[in-house]
Amino acid sequence: MAWDGMDAFVRALEARAELVRIRRRVDADLEVAAIADRVMKAGGPALLFEDVSGSRFPCLVNAFGSRSRMSLALGVADFEEHARAIADLVHPGASGGSSAILQLARKLPELAHAPPRSVATGPCQIHVRTGDDVDLDALPILTCWPADGGPFITLPQVITRDPDSGVRNVGCYRMQKLDRRTTAMHWQVHKTGARHFRRAKEMGLRRLEVAVALGGDPALTYAATAPLPDGIDEWMFAGFLRKRAVTTVKCKTVSLEVPADADFVLEGYVDPQEDLAIEGPFGDHTGYYTPRDLFPRFHVTAVTHRSEAVYPATLVGPPPMEDAWLGKATERLFLPLLRLLFPEVVDMNLPVEGAFHNLVLISIKKQYPQHASRLAHGLWGSGQMTFSKVICVVDDDVDVQNLGEVAWRLLANLDPKRDFSFVDGPIDQLDHGANQALWGGKVCVDGTRKWREEGYTREWPEPCRMSAEVRARVDAMWPELGIPEGLLVAPGATRERGRASDVPAHGVQGALSATVAVEAVARVAQAAREWLARGRP
Ligand SMILES: Cc1cc2nc3c(=O)[nH]c(=O)nc-3n(C[C@H](O)[C@H](O)[C@H](O)COP(=O)(O)O)c2cc1C
Repeated sequence: MAWDGMDAFVRALEARAELVRIRRRVDADLEVAAIADRVMKAGGPALLFEDVSGSRFPCLVNAFGSRSRMSLALGVADFEEHARAIADLVHPGASGGSSAILQLARKLPELAHAPPRSVATGPCQIHVRTGDDVDLDALPILTCWPADGGPFITLPQVITRDPDSGVRNVGCYRMQKLDRRTTAMHWQVHKTGARHFRRAKEMGLRRLEVAVALGGDPALTYAATAPLPDGIDEWMFAGFLRKRAVTTVKCKTVSLEVPADADFVLEGYVDPQEDLAIEGPFGDHTGYYTPRDLFPRFHVTAVTHRSEAVYPATLVGPPPMEDAWLGKATERLFLPLLRLLFPEVVDMNLPVEGAFHNLVLISIKKQYPQHASRLAHGLWGSGQMTFSKVICVVDDDVDVQNLGEVAWRLLANLDPKRDFSFVDGPIDQLDHGANQALWGGKVCVDGTRKWREEGYTREWPEPCRMSAEVRARVDAMWPELGIPEGLLVAPGATRERGRASDVPAHGVQGALSATVAVEAVARVAQAAREWLARGRP
């Protein structure tokens, strides 16, 4: 299912009581962010700020901020539906052979709507301002945290073309407003937009054209954040998800196309030969401020918009935030693709406290000695999984969505000296833990059961489980035992703080047990680090 712009999505959210309209005047400088932060942390609704000081446009925040809203944004009842569709597509029948090919052929009509389709006109160009009339001050661009370097556009879809091949890329890279007609362009060094920029610079070009879409179908915003391989069209992916082709129109002042249904479009260019601008600080996904750094300037040559344009924004910062759900959708939708490379993977959880890259919990069907290490090295060589700092591998009988279970099984199985393998490699540009930017240490924690071939000569114990037959007997007698449900609180937890068993599937709101797991792993990692340091000559 597809949405014709943010306004349609807003109405759908409202019909489901998932949105609150805020009519009171609120300042774009910190006030919207402070309200949004409180609501995001409380798992609250989407917020439509109708009167943001200095702008006539409403600002939508936290639109992706729950499992149901994230799913609605992608046009389904639950985003696992997309995960299943992708799995069916890439794993057409376990048997392989001719029946698999037949199954794949049956899927082809579903892909017919994937490629984008160009049209002559679109609502995103009803209002057009070019040249001196461009005024970014008209937009409700938010300043998010007190020490931020200024206001930032936080949910843009940044469109560029490869200067050699012309292949399009769409990425979500924040943009700090520098003045009425200029922003910084924060494409990090590993991202495709930055690669286009570097190539344009090498070629001596004075212009790399850039268009920035804001809003439109929320599936487009999601696609811009999705870690698709360089060269795979984000709009094709969005077309597949929404089961309708993304329609595009030609820009007014640059030779790029933009989604016809976008709410706003900023057209312009970066000059690869121009001095870079100082960008930041910015309160980031990590929950810390990313310091000032140098990034290209984006010169805006036109702003176009719809008549009922809604400005989309988000706030990132100490987790959990709205972007947790964008990340969770990616975790689920990309798992079947990851299994193409690593069929041994059973499930994966990127807990929200790990801010996407810091912690990967992954279960495998172990098939040979050191299998966990092979998987970790494979992940460190796979797209944006490269940035994974701590990869914890467990056996397939551990539910990685249950953080309490992971902490228990992983820590019980560990011999830190044996099971931690450290490597150096590229890390996320936002990471501040390493001694220097862009590279640092990473660790694989092998929490799988150890084999004789791995040097384990004792008998590996089984986890204690009540037999099914006894459990059934107890189930039957339970009502007669007179134990009030209200008195059943797991050891180590209070009812107010929640229990490991309260952690919902996919763990996003399981802050308590996530923190316990993360802290436990961090403590063991530190002990192992110290041990290794002491052991070095
Ligand atoms: C809310 C949000 C903001 C983001 N901001 C940035 C950013 O400023 N710079 C960046 O390089 N990546 C940012 N990302 C991550 C990229 O959008 C993501 O890595 C994407 O896959 C990059 O696309 P690309 O591979 O086409 O470059 C952000 C993601 C989200 C969800």
